[in-house]
Amino acid sequence: MNLDYSPGATPLDPDEAAGLIPTHIANHGQLNEWEMVNILAGELWAFGRKHPDLLSNAFICRLHKRMFGDTWRWAGSFRTTEKNIGVEPARIQPGLRDLCEDVTAQLQHKSYPLDEIAARFSHRLVWIHPYANGNGRLSRTAADLLLVQQGAQRFSWGAGNLLADGACVNATWRHCVPPMPVTTARCWHLCVRERGWLRQSPCRTLSAGNSASRAGKRRLSLFANSE
Ligand SMILES: Nc1ncnc2c1ncn2[C@@H]1O[C@H](COP(=O)(O)OP(=O)(O)O)[C@@H](O)[C@H]1O
Ligand SMILES: [Mg+2]
Repeated sequence: MNLDYSPGATPLDPDEAAGLIPTHIANHGQLNEWEMVNILAGELWAFGRKHPDLLSNAFICRLHKRMFGDTWRWAGSFRTTEKNIGVEPARIQPGLRDLCEDVTAQLQHKSYPLDEIAARFSHRLVWIHPYANGNGRLSRTAADLLLVQQGAQRFSWGAGNLLADGACVNATWRHCVPPMPVTTARCWHLCVRERGWLRQSPCRTLSAGNSASRAGKRRLSLFANSE
């Protein structure tokens, strides 16, 4: 597979790239689509219940596994190779533990406004860079989970600016480059609404569905049935 990395993306080592689970993927566009479906399923799981242990190494690994476990064999396992960002591999676990303890204390003592605690959490998580890939998306979802569990709303993470052409503005779209056909987002909205997990703003149809959105529906319904 030919992976072309966008600026800021973490290149994979050959061993890591060999951990790709689907066998049909030939380019980065297909990988993005596959990953996004996986992430949607992971978010359905994550936002569907309380996580008292959210601020723990074990939960962060569990979340990464849920978001990327259909895509990468090493999902949920800490990286063992050096990257152009992040602490050295041996410092990942202690660094993450420190981060979780710090954020727990910040919440307890209201050290910063809640939004700032969540933003700092996301920033430090991506700075540690615990996994070979998916750290940016994981850190944004983890910060959103923290906000929601504290009774606040998710961040938009810039989705409003990226979608100034009138597209649906919601948290789902931020994971997708290029933007996902709206049917996938609708599927997400429907699942969420039916299960009563989260309230998000309604969106309007922009384009017809494609194979990715059909795959999304299939995988999400499978996932929902398995829970
Ligand atoms: N110099 C940097 N400063 C801050 N964040 C960075 C920097 N370089 C990369 N990142 C973060 O790391 C992410 C890329 O890491 P990666 O593990 O590939 O995550 P993802 O696959 O979710 O994009 C970017 O999305 C960004 O959040
Ligand atoms: Mg990446």
